[in-house]
Amino acid sequence: MALNYISAAEAASLIKHGYNIGLSGFTPAGTAKAVTAELAKIAEAEHAKGNPFQVGIFTGASTGDSCDGILSRVKAIRYRAPYTTNADFRKAVNNGEIAYNDIHLSQMAQEVRYGFMGKVNVAVIEACEVTPDGKIYLTAAGGIAPTVCRLADQIIVELNAAHSKNAMGLHDVYEPLDPPYRREIPIYKPSDRIGLPYIQVDPKKIVGVVETNRPDEARSFAAADPLTDKIGQNVADFLAADMKRGIIPSTFLPLQSGVGNIANAVLGALGRDKTIPPFEMYTEVIQNSVIGLIREGRVKFGSTCSLTVANDCLNGIYEDMDFFRDKLVLRPSEISNSPEIVRRLGIISINTAIEADLYGNVNSTHISGTKMMNGIGGSGDFTRNAYISIFTCPSVAKEGKISAIVPMISHVDHSEHDVNIIITEQGVADLRGKSPKERAQAIIENCAHPDYKNILWDYLKLTDGKSQTPHALRAALGMHAELAKSGDMKNADWGQYK
Ligand code: COA
Repeated sequence: MALNYISAAEAASLIKHGYNIGLSGFTPAGTAKAVTAELAKIAEAEHAKGNPFQVGIFTGASTGDSCDGILSRVKAIRYRAPYTTNADFRKAVNNGEIAYNDIHLSQMAQEVRYGFMGKVNVAVIEACEVTPDGKIYLTAAGGIAPTVCRLADQIIVELNAAHSKNAMGLHDVYEPLDPPYRREIPIYKPSDRIGLPYIQVDPKKIVGVVETNRPDEARSFAAADPLTDKIGQNVADFLAADMKRGIIPSTFLPLQSGVGNIANAVLGALGRDKTIPPFEMYTEVIQNSVIGLIREGRVKFGSTCSLTVANDCLNGIYEDMDFFRDKLVLRPSEISNSPEIVRRLGIISINTAIEADLYGNVNSTHISGTKMMNGIGGSGDFTRNAYISIFTCPSVAKEGKISAIVPMISHVDHSEHDVNIIITEQGVADLRGKSPKERAQAIIENCAHPDYKNILWDYLKLTDGKSQTPHALRAALGMHAELAKSGDMKNADWGQYK
């Protein structure tokens, strides 16, 4: 069957008000870009005529501006899941304009399959190659593409020349069966391949192929600075010490590392620390720093859902495919983030907190308990099941007016039962094997900024000091209340709660 080549505008016109769109991609990597940009024009025109026009977006993780940005600015998104990082989308969510379902990334594909979010009407999939017999070769990310291709009534392929055809073969496409028929996912080491290098679809469902030439819209990261370097070094020193103690085997264990500036600095520090042997990654996002470490031989293998790297770095990978072919694999998010595999491989997870409390609960998503920042991403998939779960963050934010260590977090993403280690530039709190009261001592002593240590010790004096998890409930969010009142948590006055 011949492929039907159409323009992005023609493809967008197939998408109707009320549709749910399933998108390829995971972070801006591998996300379809041309059709959503045209869809925004349609939404704007319909709104100008007084007609409603909104869609639901199902995707792997965040997207680039040409999806979340453009569509939220023209108010064309009714519902979206999961994670996103776009500033305009964030504004719209916190203004109550979009229903945002922030779920664990490993669960996205299966929750769509289980029917929790409604029907997938159209899948829009970025590819580096598509064949008349229905083989779709993805670009820089796996995401939920296999699932939305199978469930959608119609598939639009964005054939993007900005991605080299050398990307063919990077992917390992595998979709588990649903209960009660699901079996184990047979990955026993990060480099195992268990699926196909393409998504096989019914070619009759491909209603159009849109030829584009649009580079990925990956964010660039700030260069490492002394603060992120110190956090990174603390992580590397902690892991090296745990290996010396025999807690981490001398062969080391696969690492997962989150996104962002701190994560990039942590990987840099781990790469430089030669007491840590060359290691493998089993992670959801590979950033620039890891590609450098693969080239240097410090990272032996990278299993990931996406290559969220700058475009020159991505092109360098495509050009050096002979080198990278046996060192990288891209997987769908329900495999890259599978709790089963994280537990089996003994992954060390390293993610970033917005705030942590005295007992080890972590908030990764909400500012002052109410405003969405980005979302939970894959941090929960890895943290809950990790061999060792680590959270990093600077001890203070906003010129020291906000302490990342608070008596009680204002929103819970990761509970005290799942968090092993908290690391700031001040030091390392090892919570393993400790009771809540012992954890509080370790966290204040090792992680809190000196400006906040006495404030936190004084908070504990308000409690009975004896209960399993001592709290003074009226004061527990007192530092957040003070931030709202005076703009500086340091002004917290515990006297009012005595
Ligand atoms: N209160 C208010 N603002 C805070 C804050 C706090 N307690 N802690 C951090 N912030 C602000 C920072 O000031 C910064 O603001 P700015 O953008 O205006 O400068 C912003 O949050 C980002 O913080 P930064 O220190 O630069 O770290 P980051 O870029 O690494 O992002 C997270 C940190 C937590 C927001 C980010 O890692 C995230 O979204 N994580 C959740 C998802 C996840 O863990 N995924 C992992 C698997 S990929």
